[in-house]
Amino acid sequence: MEISRDQIKQAVIEAGSSDEGFFHFPENENGLYLQQDPDEYADFVHYMATQLPPSKFSLDIGIASGGQTKFLRDYYQVEKTIVLDIGLHEAFVHWERIKPTVNTNLVLELIMDSHSKEARKALLPYQGQIDFTFIDGDHSYKGLMQDIELAKEIVKKDCIFVFHDTGAVPDCVRVFKELEKDPDFEMLANFDTRFGISVWKYLAVNGPKTGLRKKISKLLS
Ligand SMILES: C[S@@+](CC[C@H](N)C(=O)[O-])C[C@H]1O[C@@H](n2cnc3c(N)ncnc32)[C@H](O)[C@@H]1O
Repeated sequence: MEISRDQIKQAVIEAGSSDEGFFHFPENENGLYLQQDPDEYADFVHYMATQLPPSKFSLDIGIASGGQTKFLRDYYQVEKTIVLDIGLHEAFVHWERIKPTVNTNLVLELIMDSHSKEARKALLPYQGQIDFTFIDGDHSYKGLMQDIELAKEIVKKDCIFVFHDTGAVPDCVRVFKELEKDPDFEMLANFDTRFGISVWKYLAVNGPKTGLRKKISKLLS
């Protein structure tokens, strides 16, 4: 029987947040330290589990505790995963405990700045392989744009891009508005109860730098 959205919401609450005061559900000492809104995240996970085909190879940028990386993969099948995080978040201490429980083949763990040359060099061998990326790292406009550009270099056509906070953090909202106008991105779903989790299909791959890509390249040069 298919899992319901309400069952997923209950599981989110049981998994625990990283800060009850902010996320409005309790921490669980041996839990996942999620940084999500239970309603919004349950809607998102249920959508992934029921509406999208499984992923063969994914990239998560910004994992904090790794709880979100684990939770999603308990409901949405992801064969292989690369994680990338600078490792400075206070919840990162939980990653070592959570890591072995993630239902995926963790092929690469990059604990470094996603904007570093080293991160790009480590990811380039996976060019054309990534079909799903969850981006929740640097929340500045420039930082998020850089993460998008980095991911674009290694994704395959029709890769699913997911962004967190595209309804709440002003710089992420700005990126969201630009993506809406970008012909390379098609929005598939937007869960916007509190923080905003938007799901997009990337229609181009390694193509000419048109529109937004040109603008970003100019901005970053
Ligand atoms: C909001 S938290 C991620 C929360 C997590 N996705 C969740 O849902 O529970 C943002 C994460 O991005 C990481 N981060 C921020 N800037 C980064 C950068 N330049 N490179 C790599 N990781 C970065 C932080 O260390 C933190 O772990």
